[in-house]
Amino acid sequence: MWKIGNVEIKSRVVLAPMAGITSLAYRNFMKRFGVGLTVTEMVSDCGLIYGNDKTIEYLKTANEERPVAIQLFGGDADNICKAIDVVLKENPNIDFIDINLGCPVPKVTKTGAGSAMLKDPEKLFKYMKKICDYSPLPVTAKIRLGWDEKSINFMENIQVLEKAGVKAIGLHTRTAKQGYSGKANYEIIRDLQGKMSVPLIISGDIYSLDETLQFLDISKATAVMVARGGVGHPRLIEQLNHYFETGEKLPDATLEENINYLLEFADMLIEEKGEYKAMMLLRGIATKFFDGYPNTKRIKNAIAQTLTTREQLLRILSEYR
Ligand SMILES: Cc1cc2nc3c(=O)[nH]c(=O)nc-3n(C[C@H](O)[C@H](O)[C@H](O)COP(=O)(O)O)c2cc1C
Repeated sequence: MWKIGNVEIKSRVVLAPMAGITSLAYRNFMKRFGVGLTVTEMVSDCGLIYGNDKTIEYLKTANEERPVAIQLFGGDADNICKAIDVVLKENPNIDFIDINLGCPVPKVTKTGAGSAMLKDPEKLFKYMKKICDYSPLPVTAKIRLGWDEKSINFMENIQVLEKAGVKAIGLHTRTAKQGYSGKANYEIIRDLQGKMSVPLIISGDIYSLDETLQFLDISKATAVMVARGGVGHPRLIEQLNHYFETGEKLPDATLEENINYLLEFADMLIEEKGEYKAMMLLRGIATKFFDGYPNTKRIKNAIAQTLTTREQLLRILSEYR
């Protein structure tokens, strides 16, 4: 058990925010495998201020998933503060405000938001101080190593964030320039937790129990974020959490088990989004449930290219079985 501010977090596994993936249904589905903290995908401060219906949809959470953080992004602290008002009016049943300081997408960084904030620690301090002073809920932040390999400044930025009043820091161990490819660098954050006053949550290349244990050992981090490695592989969360609780290593899921997980998730997604939209999302996500198992190319193609109804999903799976 660990804490962010005064809030107890029961598992060291955090479900990473992922735009287009970590919907309410996804978070609820993953929760029961042993997630201690969920984070919504990044939500635009301006979208909330202007009352955009689609943006406000992202604020929905469930009591069962708590503790939960709403992640906001935006280049201006005053706008983030206004957005926090909207968040709390729409949904007071949340625990943290997380600020996105890691998104590398040009549409976001050109407004000064996301990872662009990492370039100037002084500016970052003013921005985060204003937000932390304003927010009635504890504020957390998610950063990267730096903007590019020539400006790796995570240590300075972490100190700035701690001074501003942030209560936990997620660190994706890539630079913004790396985007989502190339190896995550853990050697560079050796013993980092010992140099920090708030919990460190590591992110990057979290795909297997054994590797994650190495990353935790190197960084001494308090917690770990499961992102792409958990999509289609909920057992990874169970393996991590079970190991943290007991020291035992659970086996990987069998393909049969994974297919059952997929069906369960599909039904939760249909309930949230309606059948058609759920199927369109599943074209991208459902194939991941087959990654790592032999002879799954044909079924992955069928899912990715033809899926439109639940009935059809059942048919594709039964033909495969
Ligand atoms: C499709 C996708 C969407 C993402 N969206 C967000 C986001 O909204 N907010 C955020 O802080 N990080 C986001 N991330 C970054 C992840 O939270 C995580 O830090 C990153 O994927 C590194 O972990 P991994 O290598 O284990 O996947 C996203 C990543 C992916 C692949």
